[in-house]
Amino acid sequence: MSDKKDDDLDYETTGHEWDGIKEYNKPLPRWWLWTLYATIIWAVLYTIAYPAWPGIKQATPGLLGFSTRAEVEKDIARFEGANSGINEQLASVELTEISADPNLTQYAQNAGGAVFRTWCAQCHGSGAAGAKGYPNLLDDDWLWGGDIESIHATIAHGIRNEDDPDARYSEMPAFGDLLEPEEIAQVVNYVMSLSGEAQDASIVDAGETVFMDNCAACHMEDGTGDRFQGAPNLTDAIWLYGGDYDTLVETVEYSRFGVMPPWADRLNEAQIRAVATYVHGLGGGEATPE
Ligand code: HEC
Ligand code: HEC
Repeated sequence: MSDKKDDDLDYETTGHEWDGIKEYNKPLPRWWLWTLYATIIWAVLYTIAYPAWPGIKQATPGLLGFSTRAEVEKDIARFEGANSGINEQLASVELTEISADPNLTQYAQNAGGAVFRTWCAQCHGSGAAGAKGYPNLLDDDWLWGGDIESIHATIAHGIRNEDDPDARYSEMPAFGDLLEPEEIAQVVNYVMSLSGEAQDASIVDAGETVFMDNCAACHMEDGTGDRFQGAPNLTDAIWLYGGDYDTLVETVEYSRFGVMPPWADRLNEAQIRAVATYVHGLGGGEATPE
């Protein structure tokens, strides 16, 4: 650098000159430069104090030992501590008494919604509307029962799983081995007629005979189903697997075997009661039978 002055103007130049064009010497303002140095020093100190440099397994921990994971764990412990009283209450009152306490009900619904989104939504859908093979929990059509105690038992022990001896269990036979294809066509048409969608009326009567002989034991003579066996109501237009002719033939030929895992070993009693209250409150919840 030089302190040469421009001959014509009174500006300092660096002494560089190209074809008569001179480079002014205009250094950055002091305050700006010091700010820049300060940020560099700050950055270095920060990476020493806090987790910063990525390693193979984890980042350098930093001298202050700060960790967002530890913060979250602390928060969770704080919330659990704050909720422990109401959770104990939820786990210990009579199931049927929960709805009598608005405070407890509101807490259970909120906590249950969170449990549902974490553990149940994969199968039943985030809005609980279900999918093929996974029942809609928003309506009042229940396979195993829609009062709070039935819902609680279904969730705690699951359905047709081998992990829980108290799981709800039943098995529809695969009628492909038991009935002639003609009889299957007949009974499927009869089943379709129950919800008003028969496609071949001429064989519905024959189908009724097949139904009474083979199906009524579980689905009842009027086709309205049996909750003790989880046998669906066939007279409504609500289908777990599908109500079109081809799907019904498939169901009757091969049968179905819907499995739900038990939750008693994965969730605590307060969580199970919370999610039962949540499901019960979704719209189809029934009163406890006297
Ligand atoms: C792996 C999939 C899966 C998960 C996860 C699951 N379910 Fe289910 N659930 C099913 C299936 C399949 C059925 C129907 C079984 C049958 O055909 O009877 C069912 C049935 C039910 C029923 C009985 C509905 C009725 O009509 O009687 C309830 C209540 C229920 N589930 C609640 C829950 C809750 C609450 C959770 C979360 C804690 C949950 N489920 C998680 C698969 C699942
Ligand atoms: C031993 C009891 C039993 C018998 C007998 C039985 N079912 Fe079933 N059926 C069930 C059960 C339980 C289910 C539910 C299976 C599941 O959810 O996985 C079912 C499901 C069905 C479904 C599916 C309904 C839907 O919503 O998708 C149809 C259709 C059906 N049965 C028709 C019949 C017909 C027709 C017969 C006679 C030929 C018959 N069942 C005999 C127990 C039985």
